[in-house]
Amino acid sequence: MSKDSKKPLSTWNLNPAPESTEHIKLKEQYELFINGEWQKPTAGLYFDTVNPASQEKLANIAHANDADVDKAVKAAREAYTNVWSKMSGKERGKYLFRIARLIQEKAREFAVIETLDGGKPIRESRDIDIPLAANHFFYYAGWADKLEFAFPNKKVESIGVAAQIIPWNFPLLMAAWKIAPALAAGNTVVLKPAETTSLTALKLAEIIEESGLPAGVVNIITGFGDTGSALVNHPDVDKIAFTGSTNVGKMIQKSTAETDKRLTLELGGKSANIIFEDAAIDQAVEGIVNGIFFNQGHVCCAGSRLFVQEGVAAEVIQKLKDRIDTLVVGDPMDKNTDIGAINSQKQWESISKYLELGVNEGNEMYQGKCAIPEKGLYFPPTIFIDVAQSSRLVQEEIFGPVLTIQTFRTVDEVIQKANNTPYGLAAGVWTDKGSKIFNVTSKLRSGVVWANTYNKFDPTSPFGGYKESGFGREGGLHGLASYLK
Ligand code: NAI
Ligand code: MG
Repeated sequence: MSKDSKKPLSTWNLNPAPESTEHIKLKEQYELFINGEWQKPTAGLYFDTVNPASQEKLANIAHANDADVDKAVKAAREAYTNVWSKMSGKERGKYLFRIARLIQEKAREFAVIETLDGGKPIRESRDIDIPLAANHFFYYAGWADKLEFAFPNKKVESIGVAAQIIPWNFPLLMAAWKIAPALAAGNTVVLKPAETTSLTALKLAEIIEESGLPAGVVNIITGFGDTGSALVNHPDVDKIAFTGSTNVGKMIQKSTAETDKRLTLELGGKSANIIFEDAAIDQAVEGIVNGIFFNQGHVCCAGSRLFVQEGVAAEVIQKLKDRIDTLVVGDPMDKNTDIGAINSQKQWESISKYLELGVNEGNEMYQGKCAIPEKGLYFPPTIFIDVAQSSRLVQEEIFGPVLTIQTFRTVDEVIQKANNTPYGLAAGVWTDKGSKIFNVTSKLRSGVVWANTYNKFDPTSPFGGYKESGFGREGGLHGLASYLK
């Protein structure tokens, strides 16, 4: 596409293609799922969950306090001691298979609720989040009766009660990442979803009820940071798995330092996507767009820093600009939408502050010329060009559709720059040369490195970070090991 042929809005005249909401069942009010029952919160408090695209309220959600957390942990302990730790792996696996199949059966409903509650495009919830969540249950179901083969020559034992705290960017998927390996390994669970996106975890509780899983094996409690804090500080919790912000992760690490609780943390990232001159440029541009604008950039491993080798920088930047002009920003329920709603007002404000900072620093900025709805929490795809390595835009996690671009000349230079942030979660390398891929990937301090692709997930591959991105791995055998002694 030449510079002059940019006519995004007229070129892409798409008719609205909204997914229907008629087939979903939502209650007006959700209680806490403790010991296999829906229990009212002790203090009688509830909060609203809203649709970030329309700002309309979807349901009342129970706010659990210390007493509720205590009930949930007690239920998990009893279920662990009396039922789950005594059950054979084969039997445990049957429940996991059943939950996986029930997620598949209700996939359409899950996808719609995920999008309504969180703001992500329906195409993503439908094609990525929900199928992957079911796949995680299938995958770990398969390991439940094979633990001795998973870790040969080792005597493996479950840990006990796992406290699991998850964020709002992949609500059901994060619940599956955490619950499936915990149960396969023989642990019981208390899970707390994020306050803006509790609904699919509560729908999962309904499925768990339907599956006949023994009471107390999985407990789902809702609330804010105070609920999460009460859960991680409960003395009878054996293992904590947290995904979320670096600040809260550090607090949890401090509070568990003098206990014998096991801890895995999956925190933020500032992942580099590196394009070499010999890369297939059009594919790379598509991969960069997917890497940062996918899910509004609400992705811990988002490819938020782009490094382009000098010889192709002008071409890549022009192609990126042309491409982001054509992205469809708007109603998450529309099947054509590429970029949905920002998850919360708080997150929208946080992204806006970085935008202001980038402009004040005097960086060259380009925003996609896509139409943005007037109502709701939306943010246009934004790129900052030639940003200094020391800029906060390059060093800090923005968690929104904002990409920084830097150029480089040599392999050594780009490795040094790519590694120069406090994070180390993921990276992407785009080149035609296999040897360059091996050289660069072995030197990047990132838990995951994708080559000539980005943001691809599979239950069999481990995921997790270095440095301030956290420790411990989820997915694959590594993910199972975190739930075993
Ligand atoms: P957050 O870390 O506050 O929330 C994540 C989860 O932790 C939620 O379930 C929350 O209720 C819970 N939580 C909050 N305070 C807690 C405490 N003291 N003890 C135990 N649990 C607690 O993250 P937030 O405020 O929603 O997002 C802030 C930033 O964090 C984002 O802008 C983004 O940069 C980063 N983030 C990273 C994620 C990742 O996948 N690594 C996911 C979500 C946010
Ligand atoms: Mg919501």
